[in-house]
Amino acid sequence: MRKSSYRLAAALAAVALVVAGCSSSSKTDTAAADKSLEIFTWWSAGGEAAGLAELENQFKAANPNTEYINASIAGGAGVNAKAVLTSRLEANDPPDSFQAHAGMELDGYVKSGKLEDLTFLYKEQGWDTIFPADLIKTLTVDGKIYSVPVNIHRANVLWSNPATNAKAGVAKDPATLDEFFANLEKFKKAGIQPLALATEWTQAHLMDWMLLATLGPDAFNGLFDGTTSWTSPEVAKALKNFQKALGYANKDAQNLDWPDAGKLITSGKAGYFIMGDWASAQWQSEGLVLDTDYTWAPAPGTVGIYQWLSDSFTLPVGAKDRNAAISWLTICGSKDGQDAFNPKKGSISARTDSDPAGYDNYLKAAMESWKVDRLVGSTVHGVNGNNALMAAYNSAVGKFYTGGFKDTAGLATDLAAAYEAGKA
Ligand code: GAL
Repeated sequence: MRKSSYRLAAALAAVALVVAGCSSSSKTDTAAADKSLEIFTWWSAGGEAAGLAELENQFKAANPNTEYINASIAGGAGVNAKAVLTSRLEANDPPDSFQAHAGMELDGYVKSGKLEDLTFLYKEQGWDTIFPADLIKTLTVDGKIYSVPVNIHRANVLWSNPATNAKAGVAKDPATLDEFFANLEKFKKAGIQPLALATEWTQAHLMDWMLLATLGPDAFNGLFDGTTSWTSPEVAKALKNFQKALGYANKDAQNLDWPDAGKLITSGKAGYFIMGDWASAQWQSEGLVLDTDYTWAPAPGTVGIYQWLSDSFTLPVGAKDRNAAISWLTICGSKDGQDAFNPKKGSISARTDSDPAGYDNYLKAAMESWKVDRLVGSTVHGVNGNNALMAAYNSAVGKFYTGGFKDTAGLATDLAAAYEAGKA
């Protein structure tokens, strides 16, 4: 090479370095202009907080000069957080990003004009081909995509304790509702509380599974598109099954949230718990071991069905730290972000290119089921109905429960009204 070409090459290399330097600094600290980032969730403790902390760490590493503000509010399924969020959104004081479920819950925020369109970020990050097309549909309104999914959770899981099963002579996980009720009787005979239950939303979670297990996926979906009547005989049968199951549950349910009910399983005091797979992450955060201290099966009557939900993060209109929020969302959607968050959160990645290596055996099995099972949305966690429907659904169940779970016909009428409330 001649001397002049050496000089040219050196000059080009220098330019390349400067360009690389610029782009890497703008990539690694996109939040530079923002002094803080406020993230709003209901992940305040245990496995949920542990998952969130992974995303926080990645954000801080990329944005060392931006203060991370954790605005989480305790309360399973977001029952407390959503009330605070609603008043903040009404007062035009949004956090920089908040947790919202894929599906009709998100739709509600979009229709009330609270969220920015994130289609540009999908294009920029190539997410339109990385997240499953059917999932993206649940995040899309009028052709625009409004949030970034961090995970897929499974709602219809039956949790139990191998030692408790052995004590009660339960040799096999129940695949059907008949087997489920037969095993509840075995726990009862062994002096064990057959079913673990917590506050109102967990009762609604139990009922949502029972409707699915009794009606099957097509008639269940019909409840949310008007083709199955809430006052039909098949729903009446499902609600009778629900009533029967409640008779096996601990009487102090109203005073507990889901981690407390979970402890009834791991301490050997209760037989079964129908709960989403965040339970597993919670127990691992307490030092317990999958398949030793607790085990799982698809919830009876729903084998081969994946009742799913997805947590996603949003960009609210008027977010004070918009650049920081975009950096946060970029991490939430990234492969590294998801593969750090999900093993701790007890969920699987929403991305199709996730690396199963870092996930436990339950989550590896969930990844397989997610690909082959029939997918049906969760009602209590935002897929089938908006916040208005969910609030009315939960309180219909709460009223039924506190009334001594006697009036199944009244419950059916209240659920029909909850469905109507979601349309208003
Ligand atoms: C769900 C949420 C899960 C988990 C659960 C229990 O609504 O999607 O991530 O937080 O509530 O609190």
